[in-house]
This record gives sequence, C-alpha cells and structure tokens, in this order.
Amino acid sequence: MGIKIIGTGSYVPDKVLTNHDLEKMVDTSDEWIRTRTGIVERRIASDNEASSDMAYKASVRAMEFARIKPDDLDLIVVATITSDRITPSTACILQSKLKAYNAACFDLQAACTGFLYSLEIVNALMSTNPTYRKALIIGVEKLSMLTDWKDRNTCVLFGDGAGAVILEKRAGKHDIGGILASKLASNGSYNDLIKVPAGGSAIPTSPETIKKRMHYLSMEGQEVFKLAVNEMAKACQDVLSRAKVDISEVRWLIPHQANLRIIHAVGKKLEIPSEKVYINVHMYGNTSAASVVIALDEIVRTGKIDRGDYVLLTAFGAGITWGANLLRW
Ligand code: COA
Repeated sequence: MGIKIIGTGSYVPDKVLTNHDLEKMVDTSDEWIRTRTGIVERRIASDNEASSDMAYKASVRAMEFARIKPDDLDLIVVATITSDRITPSTACILQSKLKAYNAACFDLQAACTGFLYSLEIVNALMSTNPTYRKALIIGVEKLSMLTDWKDRNTCVLFGDGAGAVILEKRAGKHDIGGILASKLASNGSYNDLIKVPAGGSAIPTSPETIKKRMHYLSMEGQEVFKLAVNEMAKACQDVLSRAKVDISEVRWLIPHQANLRIIHAVGKKLEIPSEKVYINVHMYGNTSAASVVIALDEIVRTGKIDRGDYVLLTAFGAGITWGANLLRW
C-alpha cells in the first residue's frame, strides 16, 4: 500500500517583474542578480490576489488532473508564511472557495520547507487513519507583500506563486511506490537568520514598527547559503540510505529554488548529473513553500517523469527548517 500523488497543479500570477525592472527600483543590475542568484524574472500577484486565490487556481488544476471532485477531499493542508489573514487558516478560506466541505483543513508554517513537511505529515495521517483517503496539499506564497522593495539585499530574490498535489491511498497489488522516506529537521537557534521582525505577539504592529520597516523579510544571506547547501545534501543522503536507493537511480532532484548557486552546490555534493537537477529559479525566483511543488508540476505536465521513477525533493528555509522526501512515481 502506498500514499501516491495522483494529480498536480500550479499557478503563477501574470505580472512579470524582470531584473531590468528592479534596476529602476533599487541600486542593482541584471548582471549582479543573474550571477549571484540565477534569477532573471519573478511573478508578482496583483493587489486583490490573496494566497487563497492563487491556491484555488493551483488546486482546481490538480483536481482536474486527478479527476476528483471537491467533495472527495478529506484533508486540505496549506503550507505558507503569507496566509490571507492571521486567523482563520488559509486552508479554511480555500475550502470555502473550493466548496470542499468534507475536508479537515489547516495551515502549516515551515517556511520554504513547508511543502515537504506537509507531505510527510499528510502521509502519516493517511497511513494511520482510514478516514483520510484523499488529500490536497498546497504550497503558496505572496512574498511580494513581505518584500521590502527598498532593500536590494532581499527584493531581488523573491516571487509569488502556488503549487498543489492530490494524494490518494492506493492498495492495489500493482500500486508501487509513494512517499518512500522523509527527513524533516529544524534548528531554532538560527531563528534570527531569516525573519519578519514585527507583526506577531513578540512585537505587535505599531506606527513605530511600520516606520522602521519591521514587517518585511530580512535575511543573513551568506550564513543561510552555507547552512542550506550542507543540510539539504545531508537530508537527501539520509532518505536515500533509509530507502536503500542509490543517487544514480534518481530521475529528478528537485531542490528548493532559492538560488542557482545553492542548487548547483547541492547537486555537486550529491554527485548527481546536472541534467537530473530540475531548475526554474530563473523564471520565478524564490517562491518559498510553493517552489518545489511548482517545479514538480512542471515536470509532470511536460511528461518528464514515468511510473516507477525516483524523485528526490529537498528544501531549506526560515526557522531554520530543512528536509528531504524521496518519492517513487
Ligand atoms: N545588487 C547589487 N549589489 C548587491 C545586491 C543587489 N541586489 N544585494 C547585495 N549587494 C551587495 C552587498 O551590499 C555587498 O556589497 P558590499 O561588499 O559593498 O557590502 C555585495 O553585494 C556582496 O554581498 P554578499 O551578501 O556578500 O553577496 P553574496 O554573494 O553572498 O550573495 C545572496 C547574496 C543573498 C544572493 C546570497 O547570499 C544568497 O543567495 N544567500 C541565500 C539566500 C537564500 O536563498 N535565502 C532563502 C533561503 S530559503
């Protein structure tokens, strides 16, 4: 028996913000952004487009792919750091847009690792509780609303978008694979490395926090870079060894799309050929919880995956959190 992905979908907003556009906003250059990050452009949601709206579009595409109806869903989990509101959850708002009223709904916050965390948690729930037969997981972010468009250190890095998968419990004798192994990890002593300082219970919103621009994402870029490469590579090795799968058998490594140099460094550490490392960071930048699942949907929809293929997901983000999932398609 396995918990399998039976449908994928994604959505990115129409508005494209290029490196050349950013040159007019902050002291930067297309050349600097390309060489340091690999990013060429990113998508930006419109003012009236919330995370639940992007999640809705990705979810509908995934449900059409899986040929299921909203009523079939038993669980909806939204991984995001940019929920529509502080409460209720974006998953509940999405539920009402989908009219999927048989589902239990919650959000999960593990920053850029949120989709990987959600996969493992939903896999565990579906494995232990027979009432969860079909689940929808979404990674979605409207990072443009957390981006300080006056800070060149961060504003060139992020973008908006959503990706979705439908999971189903399969028990047929021909049903191979599923989620073979997962590694979830965190180290909260690094909680200051990537953060939005104000707007929570520690420092509530006030005229002063707004004036000091404390509601935007800040990051210690170089420190994050080093930790990200080492931890993602180790997490991948961990799931491969537990599943007894060699890296040479993996069809796709899908790393979190934060920075091309990080992606290359992880691939090199794992000694996987570069053509097996999926890259779309040049088109979307870092979309946090959405990044791995948007990439997965692109692979599926362009027919770059076959039944039985091994797919290795890995991500790293604020917290800090990181992890890996090994899937068999
Ligand atoms: N345009 C031009 N110059 C910029 C710039 C920009 N957009 N952003 C920063 N710089 C400048 C810095 O001010 C610094 O100038 P200085 O030497 O005069 O002080 C110089 O470029 C080098 O900055 P540095 O931080 O050393 O660059 P870097 O090579 O480490 O690259 C990042 C910066 C952010 C691209 C890189 O550290 C990174 O990708 N880190 C990981 C970030 C990440 O992926 N986070 C999300 C994880 S989920």
